[in-house]
Parts: sequence; C-alpha cells; structure tokens
Amino acid sequence: MNERVIDWDHLDARARAVASNAYVPYSHFAVGAAILTANGNVFVGCNVENASFGLTNCAERTAIFTARASGDDSEVLAVSVYTPTEVPTPPCGACRQVLNEFGPTMQVRNICDSTMVTHTTLDALLPGAFGPKNLADAR
Ligand code: THU
Repeated sequence: MNERVIDWDHLDARARAVASNAYVPYSHFAVGAAILTANGNVFVGCNVENASFGLTNCAERTAIFTARASGDDSEVLAVSVYTPTEVPTPPCGACRQVLNEFGPTMQVRNICDSTMVTHTTLDALLPGAFGPKNLADAR
C-alpha cells in the first residue's frame, strides 16, 4: 500500500487548467485529467479529437500515455477528471480499462463546473476487470 498523501486541490487545479488545451472542434466538450503516480509525479492530459471521430483520445488516456512517455513506470495512485458539466461525469469505459492497466486500485475523483464532486475507486468503476494478471495466467 502506497501511503503517499494525495493533494486533491492540486490535482483538481491541474485537471481544470489543462482542459483549456483540449482540441474539441466537434464535441465542444473540453475535458482535463491529472494523475498522481507512486513516484510523486503529476501528469496531465486533455481530450484530442479527430475528423475521423473514432480516433479521439480522451483526457484520461492522454494523461496516462504522457506519464509513460515521460518515463514514469510507477503505479498510478489517483486521477482527478474535470468535465464542463453541472454534475460530475465518470470516465468512459475505454478510459477505465486503460487506467486499470497502471493503477487498478487508484482513487478517482470527478469535478465539474459546480461544487459537486464524486469520489470513488477504479475497482468500483470497473469490477472484475481484465488486466495484465489475466494474461500472466495463460498457459
Ligand atoms: N471524453 C473524455 O475526454 N473523457 C471521458 O472520460 C469521456 C469523454 C471526451 C471524448 C470526446 O472528445 C468528448 O469528451 C465527448 O465525448
């Protein structure tokens, strides 16, 4: 168990700020995510859409891929996700799967344009997940 203290105020601020970098000409739905790794690093991501809609990359996955590309291979402990909504909006299924790869027990917080916040864990959002352990079990 990693006992690192999670500075949610910082993660929330970083998630809100990075949403302004989102490339969202189609949905106009700018999302920001900030993750904390066990090494103590924070990485951010925004959604980046594409004229071929299915190629859109969500904010959460951008943050995860940025962490990996930056050389941080430690477990992801927490993610804060900002959506431009009046109520908190949970990560999509694809992002839950990608988050699971690098932090199956991470804490997940969703913030928005009101003061409402939700706080849960990835294993609650993706129970019975398929992950690296399942491939390791192959014969
Ligand atoms: N989006 C995210 O960035 N994260 C999510 O968890 C849900 C959806 C993005 C994808 C697309 O650019 C826009 O929000 C509308 O779906």
